[in-house]
Parts: sequence; structure tokens; C-alpha cells
Amino acid sequence: MLHKTDILVIGTGIAGLSYALKVAEKKKVVILTKAEAEDTSTSLAQGGIAAVMYNPDTYDKHIADTMKAGDDLSDPEIVKITIEESTERVKELIAWGVDFDKNASGKYDLTKEGGHSEFRVLHHKDATGLEIQEKLYQTAKRHPNISILENYFAIEIITQHHLGQEVKRKNGNIECYGAYIYNPNTKKVETVLSKITMLATGGIGHVYSNTTNPVISTGDGIAMVYRAKGLVRGMEFVQFHPTALYNPNEKISFLITEALRGEGAILRDYKGKEFMQKYDQRGSLAPRDIVARAIDNEMKLSGEDHVYLDARHLKQSLILNHFPNIYAHCLKIGVDMKKDLIPVVPAAHYSCGGIQTDHWGMTSIKNLYASGECASTGLHGANRLASNSLLESLVFSYRAAVDTLNKIDELSFETDIPLWDAEGTVLNEEMVLITQTKKELQNIMSNYVGIVRSNLRLQRAFDRLEILYRETEDLYIKSIVTPEICELRNLIQIGYIIIKQAMERKESRGLHYNIDYPKLINYGSDKES
Ligand code: FAD
Ligand code: SIN
Repeated sequence: MLHKTDILVIGTGIAGLSYALKVAEKKKVVILTKAEAEDTSTSLAQGGIAAVMYNPDTYDKHIADTMKAGDDLSDPEIVKITIEESTERVKELIAWGVDFDKNASGKYDLTKEGGHSEFRVLHHKDATGLEIQEKLYQTAKRHPNISILENYFAIEIITQHHLGQEVKRKNGNIECYGAYIYNPNTKKVETVLSKITMLATGGIGHVYSNTTNPVISTGDGIAMVYRAKGLVRGMEFVQFHPTALYNPNEKISFLITEALRGEGAILRDYKGKEFMQKYDQRGSLAPRDIVARAIDNEMKLSGEDHVYLDARHLKQSLILNHFPNIYAHCLKIGVDMKKDLIPVVPAAHYSCGGIQTDHWGMTSIKNLYASGECASTGLHGANRLASNSLLESLVFSYRAAVDTLNKIDELSFETDIPLWDAEGTVLNEEMVLITQTKKELQNIMSNYVGIVRSNLRLQRAFDRLEILYRETEDLYIKSIVTPEICELRNLIQIGYIIIKQAMERKESRGLHYNIDYPKLINYGSDKES
């Protein structure tokens, strides 16, 4: 079956919805999500959104903090654009109905997180993302120019490759004509032709065993672009959040926001002793890469499975008013954070790399934009500053929308696209083949490509992954297409790119820490790998 839409958006998180709302001022838009519209990382964001709002904060200070956290790999021009547009974009979010907490004097109650030199994080208690998700989704749902299709899975973007033409990663001639999507009602693959496609497919957390990410974070958009021979960079920079709640019974690790440390909570070792000062003078509020590595080291030294976060000395009113959800969640497993230490452990949290985009969110593939966690704008460099990702999504979705509206009237549909070729797909694969391979992949990535890496571990991971890759491609070719096999294939693709780009980086930098390169070397140009 064939559908046509001027603009196709894949993803209903902050990046997809904010782009759709902007282009819908002039054009009709179709948005797809592979799950329910609110099953996104956006819904889980806790700490808040960083933006320069008041004195004594300045754009220059936020720019300097972002550059420092990024270990000098961030693109200075992109950092400047993002930060200088932060105030406007946050005001627009407020105009869409998002409610941020205010203090007694009526000003926004700004909080702080690791690596920030000022209080500049706007929040809605400890559930900022849910507030943003709900307001954007409700606004989009009511919009006459927006249609939202839930549980539709984007399988591949359509390019010249599907017209039988050869395309090369670096020749810059690739074009996107839409996407092949899985219709959950017919269980068939359908073709959507679009003049413009926006990928807003989120993160990659489920390539690892322990992650704070929702189940949708399987790197689909990044994998699709890589297969289509678009440019993907910086994938070696996987951010592990230092403080996920240690609870082996939970499939998705529950986050304990960094804002709690911003308000004064302290990390302690298994004996209750403060340890972060040994690693960094900023103590428990050092940037995430440093804190996660320090915790990893403390756990290796002690042989314990976690360290502790101590919030017992904070005012009870602060805990109950600012962190009510975290308080309630901890209490459910018997931890009263007013009296007890909270057991915490690092978990895979955020992909700093992704689909390479320019100042307007355009990828290396013509008529294909990317925004949000799946994109690599150049903002985060080797390590993202906390609460800069919601901001980045807003800024580049806005810019992509402006660019889209400027050019869409000159574009036309490509009409020669063949329907999805389902020939030879006879096998209805057993789920165990998929779930087992996924577990193997997650173990390989967690054990060999985690917070601390080495050349030997990376090579071992690469060799193991090759076997999983071959088996899965073979299974995919013979199978009836399902979202599950597509996700597995995408996760393996993501694992492969992370390992490959980690092997290419011959230094330790930011989140990529390789014990074979203990000193920082090679500060040359790092625009693409
Ligand atoms: P998402 O919000 O994840 O949305 C992705 C969308 O793409 C979903 O609708 C999904 O269904 C869809 N999709 C994916 N693949 C397909 C496919 N194949 N077909 C169809 N649809 C598809 N950042 C901050 O700045 N501040 C914070 O306080 C903060 N806290 C966080 C807390 C947690 C627990 C987590 C996990 C992240 C946090 N982050 C935070 C990071 C931030 O939330 C995410 O980076 C951001 O929300 C990503 O938004 P997005 O729109 O790119 O992706
Ligand atoms: C947190 O609240 O600690 C997460 C913030 C982020 O990932 O930016």
C-alpha cells in the first residue's frame, strides 16, 4: 500500500512533536511512533531543561560549561547557537502550556546539575519530561494539520538504493523519498512517500544491559541512516548516568536525578565515606563522565555492586516538594531517603553521538532531517552537559522546521518507488532466537564496551558481534518482518558502530575512556569519523 504526505515525522518525543507543531503552522504533517505516543525518553526526563534565564547567569557562562563538559570536542558554533537561542525556545515551550516550578518571588526556581557553574535548570518537580511530553502531545493531538499514528514501526528510509542505484557514504548524493513502515493492523509493510522526512527516534540505551532508557530506545533512526550510507559520528561517546537506583528487580533502571546532587546530596562508598573529592575538586557535582568512572572504580576496589547517595541532610520540605516521585519510588523498595542512604549504580543513559546534522538539522542525506537524541549536532562533543539534551532538541527541531518551510514548496514526490519486497520471507522466527541474541549483545557491550574500555576488550567485542551480526542478517532475510527482529537488527548495527568508532579513537577523551591511552592525545580536527 502507498501513502503520500508532504512531511513525515518519525518519533513523538520532544524533538518530533516540537518540529511537527512548528511546521504544522503552514503544512500538513504525519507523525509515526512505534509505541504509544507517550512511551518516550522525553516522558522520563527528571532534572529539567538548561537555559539562560536571569542574572548572574550569562550565555557566555553556559557556553563555557558546555565546552568544558564536552572535553573540547563540541563544535563552538553549534554551542553558541544552542545557548543563545535557549531563552526563546524555552519561552515557546511555556507558550505551548509547559509549567515550570516557580519560587516564592514568582521567578523560575532554577536548579543545578553536574558541570553547571550557575543555577539554570528549569524543572517541573522531578518529572519535567512528563510535563513537557503531555503538553506537547495534547497540543499536537488537537492540531488540525497533524495526524499521529501510534504503533507504526519505521523499518527503513527510502533512498536511491531502493531504485536499484548504488550509493556511497561520502559522495553526498543520497536523497530520502520517505520510509517503509510496518502497519500493526495489517501486519504488512507499507510505503510512505514524503517530500521531507524528520527522524526523531531517540536513543540507544538498550544496546546495554542496564539502562535508564525506555524500551523504545533501540537506535532505529541511527541504524537506518547508517544502512542508507548516511553519516553517523561520535557513537563512542555513550553517557552512563552515575546514579541509577540499584534495584536488580527493575528491568529499566530508575533514575535518581543529578539535581539531587545539585541540591547538596553526596556520594558515599559502601562504608559510608565520601569519595568524590579524591577524583575531582567539584566532588559529587563533577561532570558525569568523571563521576561515573569514579563510581566504577570504587565498585571495583570494594567488590560491591553499588555505592550510595546521601540526601539525609537535605531539608525534608525540599525532598518532598522537589523530588516527590523519587521519594515515593525509593520508599516502594524500602528506602526512605530522608533517613536512609540510597544505593546507586551507573547505567547507560544517553548517546552523545548520532546522525550527523548541520546548523539546520539537515543530515548528509538530502531532504532528511534528524533532531533530538538520534542526532549529532556537535553540541555535546565527548560528553553532554546535564539537561542540555531537551534544549538541543528544541533548538534544532525549530531550526529544521524553519528550513523545511523555506524549501518544501520547491520539492516533489519521487514516484518510481517499488513496494516492499516480501519475497522469500517464509520463516516465522521463534522469539527465543531474538531475545537470546539481544541478551548476548547487551552482555558483550556492557562487559567490553562500557565505562572503561581497552583495545583488547574492544577487539573481543568486535569479533563476538560479527557472529551475532551474521546470524541475525541471515534470520532477517528469511523471516516475516516484525518490529522485534527489526529492533534486534538495529541494536546490533548500533553496537557495531559504537565499537568501530571507539576503536578508531586512539585516545581517552570525555566519555570514551580506554586504559591503553591513559593520557589525552591527538587534539586535532574531530569533525567526523
Ligand atoms: P524520545 O523522547 O525518546 O522519542 C523517540 C520517539 O521515536 C518515540 O516516540 C519512539 O516510539 C519513536 N521511534 C523510535 N524508533 C522508531 C521507529 N523505528 N519507528 C517509529 N517510531 C520510532 N535530558 C535533559 O535535557 N534533561 C533531563 O532532565 C533528562 N532526564 C532524563 C532522564 C531519563 C530517565 C532519560 C532516559 C533521559 C533523560 N534526558 C534528559 C535525556 C532526554 O530525555 C532525551 O535525550 C530526550 O528526551 C530525547 O528526545 P527525543 O525526542 O529525541 O526522543
Ligand atoms: C538527571 O535528571 O539527572 C538527568 C538529566 C539529564 O540527563 O540531562
